[in-house]
Amino acid sequence: MNILILGSGGREHTFAWKIAQSKNCTNLFVAPGNAGTAQIATNLPIGVNDFEAIGNAVKENKIEMVIVGPEEPLVRGVVDYFRKDKALKKIKIVGPDASGARLEGSKDFSKGFMQKYNIPAGASQTFTKDTLQEGLAYLETQSLPIVLKADGLAAGKGVIIAESMADAKTALHEMLAEAKFGDASSKVLIEQYLSGIELSVFVLTDGKNYKILPEAKDYKRIGVNDKGLNTGGMGAVSPVPFADAEFLGKVEERVVKPTLEGLQAEGIKYVGFIFVGLMNVDGEPYVIEYNARMGDPETEVVLPRIKTDMVKLMKATADGKLDKIKLTVNPKAAIATVSVAKGYPEDYRKGDVMTIPEAEKDTIIFHAGTKIATDGSVQTNGGRVIVTTGMARTLNSARKKSQAMAKKIIFDGKYFRNDIGKDLLKYLES
Ligand code: AMP
Ligand code: GLY
Repeated sequence: MNILILGSGGREHTFAWKIAQSKNCTNLFVAPGNAGTAQIATNLPIGVNDFEAIGNAVKENKIEMVIVGPEEPLVRGVVDYFRKDKALKKIKIVGPDASGARLEGSKDFSKGFMQKYNIPAGASQTFTKDTLQEGLAYLETQSLPIVLKADGLAAGKGVIIAESMADAKTALHEMLAEAKFGDASSKVLIEQYLSGIELSVFVLTDGKNYKILPEAKDYKRIGVNDKGLNTGGMGAVSPVPFADAEFLGKVEERVVKPTLEGLQAEGIKYVGFIFVGLMNVDGEPYVIEYNARMGDPETEVVLPRIKTDMVKLMKATADGKLDKIKLTVNPKAAIATVSVAKGYPEDYRKGDVMTIPEAEKDTIIFHAGTKIATDGSVQTNGGRVIVTTGMARTLNSARKKSQAMAKKIIFDGKYFRNDIGKDLLKYLES
């Protein structure tokens, strides 16, 4: 079958890499893609939010299935657009419609959903510009640190963890009265701070059946030992050693099942991935957030561990037949290290020429922010530039492979964290 992947990051290159291995894929397209996807698929120069151009490309190229990578087109209703078009409505799409994507697109909606369906999460209240004074008064009643979250999509920057009351009040004021994140902060959640260790669980659902994919932990801060500014993600590890069968059992019973039952009860037919961001608080799972898509760079460790044919898995999802398919997972450990451009996550340069060697044994190279320039060279084209995944029987060995490969990629100003997965080794001693 002909397949289109929407997006241009490491996540989408990973999907393309996995799908290209399937004999069930005839022609593979990525829109807009990057220099990595160009090696294994046809890149289409179309933005992920240009639904009309996407629809036309689907018709022209006889595409039968679309997999949506990032959240924005989902929240803006790309699935709804397809469903409303006579010629496009029969196309299989992996991704929720706009009503389902509210799990990520509105933190106020998702928090209300968690409360309604008794899904464990931090206590929270929502305030608007009109209730700013009440919000400031509410802050006074809370203990520190305290979490403030913009309701809408804010490119991963909408969460502020305030350590002092003064900072919390300033942040609330900036978000509500000064529209710091534009419309996204017209509502702000003030949420209880949860102290624990984070991990993510990924659910693939066809609306009734589900599969729990391998869990992962990502590393959000730019600096070694989780210091410095937040980023889109500097690395990822799967499996997560502290997520034992008992903990994952709690996640399935207390979070996954009630989430899917809640979606059905709300009349939302959710087809696609649910990324559940969790805090492990003394062995108990609490939901920090939902995303309506796979994570990046989590995909770069989760998909390489899935042995099941990816086209069969995606098709079964779109067709409501996930119960007919067996998910097989490779027990090996996978670690992804993200190399970023100098300056990231603040202003960074693009257009540096790259030298990328062949991937070594048990290593995979996924492009993120790269492009093929007019002179044919591969150049940097984003903050997160390239991801090197290492796979091995042990986490430490996967770590070494991932790091060794990251070292061999050449571009001016390259930076990567050399401690991805290091903090998890202690769970394996004993
Ligand atoms: P998000 O944008 O929702 O992924 O949040 C960004 C980060 O903020 C999360 O990955 C957590 O590290 C942190 N965070 C969010 N909510 C909480 C919370 N209630 N308690 C502690 N940390 C949180
Ligand atoms: N790595 C975090 C995310 O994809 O949202």
